[in-house]
Amino acid sequence: MTPHNNAKKGDYAEAVLIPGDPLRAKWIAETFLDEARCVNTVRNCLGFTGSYRGKPVSVQASGMGQPSLAIYVHELINVYGVNTFIRVGTCGGLSEKVKVRDLVLGQTASTDSAINRNTFGAFDFAPGADFGLLRAAADAANAAGVRWHAGAIVSSDVFYQPDGLDGYATLREHGVMAIEMEASALYTLAARFSARALAICTMTDCLVTGEELDADQRQSSLEDMVRIALDVAVGEI
Ligand code: HPA
Repeated sequence: MTPHNNAKKGDYAEAVLIPGDPLRAKWIAETFLDEARCVNTVRNCLGFTGSYRGKPVSVQASGMGQPSLAIYVHELINVYGVNTFIRVGTCGGLSEKVKVRDLVLGQTASTDSAINRNTFGAFDFAPGADFGLLRAAADAANAAGVRWHAGAIVSSDVFYQPDGLDGYATLREHGVMAIEMEASALYTLAARFSARALAICTMTDCLVTGEELDADQRQSSLEDMVRIALDVAVGEI
């Protein structure tokens, strides 16, 4: 038990999917897992454990943004023994090459957050995905016939950027293809505590073209992404 989590030791599997939204965690557990049970209810930031293809797996909501995710992930590693994290989320597109519905596998995650700046002193740490998970996710996406891109993303503390797309100009010039709000902290904590992590994001809204997914497309894309993430989490790829 922790101030943020009323699960007991042993309640989480070693591999955990991390969506931002608690209701998406519930939907994943109820739709895809066998014998799912709720293990965390604190603040309604729901967590569940069940099995997929006969192997144990959990899903825990992170809430929005890096400070929230960092609390859950720190405790999942250090209190509950989790060693594999797959974030399943949405992202905004920063490149015309990434179409809505495409999966973005975050190979690296830059950030405007001060968390790492305050931690690494003179250095800019480069948060990156676990290569094995990244390769497995690419293989799983190929097998599912889902378009994907692996590359640089940015985890921003700011959803409503006052300068709009101009605020991301330099990042775009350096190949950053999508924006979300959590991966950088996830990769940093995984590195610190020798865990494995990958962020898989469905591109739902392109900041360059204004293209957006409608509700039905959003749902089917999320289903594809979750199946891919679960296959990777239980090592079926
Ligand atoms: N910004 C940050 N996170 C996001 C976005 C965005 O535009 N779209 C989906 N997640």
